[in-house]
Amino acid sequence: MKILILGNGGREHAAGWKIKQDNPDAVLYFNKGNGGTAQIGTNLSLETVQETVNFAEKNQIDLTFVGPEDWLVKGIVDAFREKNLPIFGADQKSAQLEGSKEFAKDFMQKYGVKTAAYQTFNNFTEANEYARKQKFPLVVKADGLAAGKGVVICQDAFDAEKALDEMFNKKIFGEAGNHVVIEEFLDGFEASILSVFNGREITPFVSAKDHKKIGEGETGLNTGGMGVAAPNPLFTQTHFQAFEKDILQPTLNGLLSENMIFAGIIFFGLMITKDDVYLLEYNMRMGDPETQAVLPLMENNFLDIITQAIQGQSVKLRWKPQSAVCVVMASGGYPLNYETGFEIKGLDSVATPCFVAGASLGDGKLYTSGGRVLNVTGLGNDLKSAQQNAYENVSKIHFDYECYRKDIGEV
Ligand code: AMP
Ligand code: GLY
Repeated sequence: MKILILGNGGREHAAGWKIKQDNPDAVLYFNKGNGGTAQIGTNLSLETVQETVNFAEKNQIDLTFVGPEDWLVKGIVDAFREKNLPIFGADQKSAQLEGSKEFAKDFMQKYGVKTAAYQTFNNFTEANEYARKQKFPLVVKADGLAAGKGVVICQDAFDAEKALDEMFNKKIFGEAGNHVVIEEFLDGFEASILSVFNGREITPFVSAKDHKKIGEGETGLNTGGMGVAAPNPLFTQTHFQAFEKDILQPTLNGLLSENMIFAGIIFFGLMITKDDVYLLEYNMRMGDPETQAVLPLMENNFLDIITQAIQGQSVKLRWKPQSAVCVVMASGGYPLNYETGFEIKGLDSVATPCFVAGASLGDGKLYTSGGRVLNVTGLGNDLKSAQQNAYENVSKIHFDYECYRKDIGEV
């Protein structure tokens, strides 16, 4: 099998690692990949949808796996379908569930998916007038893709006015801020549930807990994710049942009614309050770094799962009866300014999956090249031992100005 994986982070390295573990003969291509993927496949530098279609056609790629959302929103799945090239990911219309918050909220409302109450606006004056009359905190969201930065939790009317001014007038998120969703603030804890959609059924993965802030105890700036624990220790069977009834089932009804049919991933970003489970957002791709924690727990051959989903067959997921803790090692200064180009040492003695997020390969050595550098995943029979395993291995790895949170997996 020849497999093309689109993307260049830890998520894509983890997907390739899992496929290669289960199918040692698989030949992997990554676009554009990184210093980790270069060790298990060939890195490419395709820029456009058309170049990617041409590459897949010419090289007889058996399967293309889409990592990040921007390719989906650009319609790569539709372009592959036109040429009958197998691809795993959402088509352009379905990708709007991630690409437009207004589209997603309207879909949730239409099909009764439990979510925070909201209103959408296309101009500053009306939005600001509405915001002033609401209870605080209040959440203001730019409609389009804003690299995870388009959500502002406002403590009072001044905050809301500032956020709306920045989105509508100063256009800090460009086009993404032409429409704005204002929604009710939900107080609780978050859980990430990935799932596979085969065009007929949605099959959920084990739950995960993402640690988004740079500082221990969830303090400081937001990041792309500093670590993950799976299964999420706070997410109970009762929460899962509420998720199935109030979120998964109505989502499936909506997808089928709207003819949003594809084989790919749906990621449910949940907020669990003291009474209920709410959907904050859909992502139409695997989470990063959730993937780096959940794939090492998967017992199935991931390639079989993808192939079955593409063929519209039912998939049955099996999980190791274990926990996983993924610790992100970052460059000091991240998520603001940081230096790169430092050699990463000690990897040879690491005895657990270690995925490259931002490092490049030069004369057989890895050098830091991004804010998030490595994702070290420890496994164990319970959360505590998974955590110990992760941190034991993290302590063997060294690069200048390394930094990581010491509390990933704490409840
Ligand atoms: P989103 O991109 O919609 O998931 O929002 C990013 C983050 O903002 C979420 O992971 C939450 O931490 C927070 N957030 C979004 N919407 C709400 C809400 N209605 N209430 C509280 N926090 C929220
Ligand atoms: N970890 C959250 C995301 O991938 O968006």
